[in-house]
Amino acid sequence: MKIEKEALATGTTYKPSEPFSTKVLTTVSITNAEEEVKHLVIDLKGSNLLYREGQSIGVLPPGTQPGGKPHKLRLYSVASSRNGDPGFPETASLCVKRLIEQKEDGTKYLGVASNYLCDLRAGDPVLVTGPVGIHFLLPKDDSANLIFVATGTGIAPFKAFLDYIFRERQEPWKGQIILIFGAKFKSELLYCNDLNSELQVLSDAGKCKLITAISREQQNPDGSRVYVQHRIQENFSEIANLMESGNFCFYICGLKGMERGIEDVFRAHLGADEWEKRKLEYKKDGKWIVEVY
Ligand SMILES: Cc1cc2nc3c(=O)[nH]c(=O)nc-3n(C[C@H](O)[C@H](O)[C@H](O)COP(=O)(O)OP(=O)(O)OC[C@H]3O[C@@H](n4cnc5c(N)ncnc54)[C@H](O)[C@@H]3O)c2cc1C
Ligand SMILES: NC(=O)c1ccc[n+]([C@@H]2O[C@H](COP(=O)([O-])OP(=O)(O)OC[C@H]3O[C@@H](n4cnc5c(N)ncnc54)[C@H](OP(=O)(O)O)[C@@H]3O)[C@@H](O)[C@H]2O)c1
Repeated sequence: MKIEKEALATGTTYKPSEPFSTKVLTTVSITNAEEEVKHLVIDLKGSNLLYREGQSIGVLPPGTQPGGKPHKLRLYSVASSRNGDPGFPETASLCVKRLIEQKEDGTKYLGVASNYLCDLRAGDPVLVTGPVGIHFLLPKDDSANLIFVATGTGIAPFKAFLDYIFRERQEPWKGQIILIFGAKFKSELLYCNDLNSELQVLSDAGKCKLITAISREQQNPDGSRVYVQHRIQENFSEIANLMESGNFCFYICGLKGMERGIEDVFRAHLGADEWEKRKLEYKKDGKWIVEVY
């Protein structure tokens, strides 16, 4: 059974050679943790840049790379529904983590685009491109069950999906929705912490089931860190039930490589050959959608 996805909007797509020049409307920290994450609202008024939840937009950082070429574009999942965050029509929100890496020689490497974006203030100019992405979209059929698995800022597209489903759609979503979310600390559970609790509120209202894996504050019985795959294992029969009808979409977004641990759970339950067969089928039918970086 193939899953038909929402149609893309027919707006303007901006290329890196001709980006849309706009400004930041608001920017706010959404974690108290040491590693900063900002939620930025970008003005799209006058652009006709129309995105769908699950798509990404590009950002062109100013300046040049060593060697003189302009910095390359970086992609960010849109973290708002198609009409923008409440009170901000014709905008796209981004959820950006400031990348700071400790190098072996003791110095720090600061990610170009993420530090640029996290340092921007309301009113500052910014060049954006896109939208891009044609796979990470909601199914058309609202009786489809949705399983969302996120680590870190991989939560962005799921926030957009849930905003759309529960704030903007006229009809209630008929399928069931589970969100499994992994972060190092409770304070890093984006949109589910003291600074922004939007997704926690949805879960508390019984609209979707939120299952968290807080790796540096919780442990498995063997003492190892709890990851999203361990929560999938613990809730396997419920998740398998949602997939049983064939009318489901399983989305994975976040850290590169996170899909491996999740697949291992399915492999252990179904056997390696059966899992490979099903995965191929799920991918072909648009039910197994992975966006990791
Ligand atoms: C589809 C998609 C959606 C995404 N969505 C999001 C999102 O919602 N939120 C989010 O925060 N991110 C997202 N990303 C990731 C984002 O695009 C960037 O990759 C991320 O912000 C880091 O970019 P940067 O310019 O800060 O880092 P870069 O400067 O590009 O550095 C990246 C890495 O390159 C290495 N590196 C490069 N140059 C050097 C150097 N001179 N010395 C040492 N190391 C170096 C470092 O290891 C560093 O970790 C997404 C990516 C994709 C593909
Ligand atoms: N659409 C996309 O492609 C997209 C969208 C948004 C973000 N991203 C990318 O997603 C990444 C998220 O980074 P982040 O810094 O926010 O995450 P992070 O904080 O480093 O990690 C989030 C959680 O995942 C855990 N984890 C580590 N390895 C794992 C594994 N193999 N399987 C499952 N969980 C694992 C971490 O545990 P411990 O660290 O405690 O071990 C932590 O609890 C970034 O690289 C970002 O660029 C991609």
